[in-house]
Amino acid sequence: MSKVFRLPAPGGTHGRRPAPATTPSPSVPSSRGRAGIVAGYLSPHPPHLVYAENPPQNEPRSEGGWETLRWAYDRLRRRIKEVHRPDTLIVHAPHWITMVGHHVNCAPNPKGVSVEPIFPHLFRYHYDFRTDVPLAEAIADEAEGLGLVTSRMRDPDVRVDYATIGALHMVNPDWDIPVVSLSANNNPYFYSDASLGDMEVLGEATRRAVERTGRRAVLLGSNSLSHLHWHEEPELPEDMEREHPYNNHQYRWDMKLLEAIRRGPTAPLKELISEHIEATASETKAGSLTWLLAAMGWPRVPGDVLGYGTIIGTGNAVVEWTPEEDHHG
Ligand SMILES: [Fe+2]
Repeated sequence: MSKVFRLPAPGGTHGRRPAPATTPSPSVPSSRGRAGIVAGYLSPHPPHLVYAENPPQNEPRSEGGWETLRWAYDRLRRRIKEVHRPDTLIVHAPHWITMVGHHVNCAPNPKGVSVEPIFPHLFRYHYDFRTDVPLAEAIADEAEGLGLVTSRMRDPDVRVDYATIGALHMVNPDWDIPVVSLSANNNPYFYSDASLGDMEVLGEATRRAVERTGRRAVLLGSNSLSHLHWHEEPELPEDMEREHPYNNHQYRWDMKLLEAIRRGPTAPLKELISEHIEATASETKAGSLTWLLAAMGWPRVPGDVLGYGTIIGTGNAVVEWTPEEDHHG
C-alpha cells in the first residue's frame, strides 16, 4: 500500500498546498464515545429502495418491493442509532461524477429536489440536510496534502445526485446526523485499467481528517455489486415476480465476493474487487468500496453481510465493517 502515498511532493509543480501534519493531532473524544471511524457500510443506492419505502420526501408512491434489502437497511439503521451513534456520516457515491479530481461538498445546507434521470417516475426526492463543514474542509485539506487534485463545492444550488441522497435516506431517513459528501472522479470509467489507487489516498485523507477533527464517523460506500440490468421495466415496477439476478454468472461472482467478505480479512479484497469488476461490470469500479476499506486501514476482520438482493437484475448487498480494535475488545 505504501507506493500510493509516494505521490509528487505537495507544493511542487502543481502549486499544491503544503501537506498537513502527517501525525494526526490528538483527537478530541466525541461526546458520543470514542472518536474515529466507528463503522463502514457498503450501502447501495438504487432508487427503487427509496421508492419502495414511500417516504414523505419522495413524490412517487409504491406498493413496496425489494423487502430483503430494505430489511437489511432497517438493521443498519438500528446499529447506527443504538450502537455507533456517529457525529457525522461520510458518503462516497458514484453519481456525483467529477471529471477532474475529487470534490467535497462544503455547502452548509444543501436543499432541493433530487431526480433519478432514468427513473424519474420512481425518484423525485425533496432533500434538506446539514453538512459537517469543518470535517468537509479537513478532508479536502488532507486530500490536497496527499497530492490529490481536490475542490471544495460551495454552491448551495447544485442539485445533489440521487446516489448520495438515496444512500443517505436509506441509512438515516431522519436526516438528523450531519453529512460529508464526496464526489466520484470518473477516470476509472474512461480508463478501464486505471487502478483504484486514488481511492486508497482519499481513504487515508478521510481517516486523517476524522482523527484530526475528533469526529465519531460512519462511512458509507454507495455501490451496487454486479451491474448488468434489464432494459425493460414491468408495468408495475415493484412486480417482484420479475426480479431476479441478471444471470447465474453475475450472481455467482457476487457470492464469491461476499463469501470473501464474510470470511475476512479485508486485504485479499483489494485484488478480488478488481476481478469482480472485470467479471460483472460491478459498480465498485467507481471506487466507493475501496475508499471505505482504505479509510478503515483494510481491517483484518470479516464483514457482516446484513442482506443481499437484486434490483432490476443488479446485485446489491448491505455490509457492515467495524474497526479491528472493536473485534478484540
Ligand atoms: Fe448507481
